[in-house]
Amino acid sequence: MKKNKAIVIGQSVSKSLSPTIFNYWFSKYKIKGKYEYLEIQKNKLEKKIFTKLINMKIKGFNVTIPHKESIMPYLDFVDSHSKKIGAVNCVTIKRKKLHGSNTDWIGYYKTINKITKKQERVRNQAIVVGYGGASKAIVYALLKLKYKKIHIFNRTLNKMKNIKNKNIKTYHINEIKKHISQSNIIVNTIPVNIFKLLNIPKKLPPKFIVSDIVYRPFETSFLKHFKNPKEKTYGISMLINQAIPCFEKWFGFKPTANKELFEILKKELDK
Ligand code: ATR
Repeated sequence: MKKNKAIVIGQSVSKSLSPTIFNYWFSKYKIKGKYEYLEIQKNKLEKKIFTKLINMKIKGFNVTIPHKESIMPYLDFVDSHSKKIGAVNCVTIKRKKLHGSNTDWIGYYKTINKITKKQERVRNQAIVVGYGGASKAIVYALLKLKYKKIHIFNRTLNKMKNIKNKNIKTYHINEIKKHISQSNIIVNTIPVNIFKLLNIPKKLPPKFIVSDIVYRPFETSFLKHFKNPKEKTYGISMLINQAIPCFEKWFGFKPTANKELFEILKKELDK
């Protein structure tokens, strides 16, 4: 029993949806497993936590806010994607060593790839709202999806000063309005609806995607703001799709992202 255990560590993890996702798969695939959470406050990450996790003989653990970046020095190995993104959300324990990977970007890549395959000319210019920890994996995924130009808007300009990529342009968040018409997708990574705060019209150019990585509530005020998007993607989609490669690393096969799981999570968020 012990060897099929996994955990999520972070702040306010009692509200995390990851236990629901993993325990759903355990039940679906008849695996005797258990996925739990461990609350670790900001600035409370320390070596002895990892010794404890290794001794618990778990397969691995997920890392969430606010530790995705600060965990990196504690890991024995970090994959190339995590290094480029600067964050880890999935750790596999093998022979008492900690192997860090980033599957957030895969979760977002899968979410967008599924819908953009159907659309023409959509992989062109993207708007990303916010530049915190989560946003870095999104920008990485958009570059992998071959968006030609990514416009990032953040309230704190200073946080974007180290970006050195000719396909990325950075701006203050108050400047979003005039850039919308050149883009095909807006990705929101911040907890407020900046479009309402800035009085941005609800009508979008045609063939537009609005995409939120925030999943609480299920339909955020950002997603509700625009009246005519061609497609909407919900935060839950990225969440499920980042969990799939993590599950595979720990348990050796790829679980499926089916409609039933999506509905279970939606129901949990609507409670
Ligand atoms: P996450 O891991 O979810 O990205 P984070 O690293 O704390 O969390 O980043 C939060 C993002 O939301 C940042 O881009 C932050 O902007 P700042 O860099 O200026 O702090 C943004 N954010 C949070 N509250 C905001 C608000 N009220 N208005 C605009 N941006 C906000």
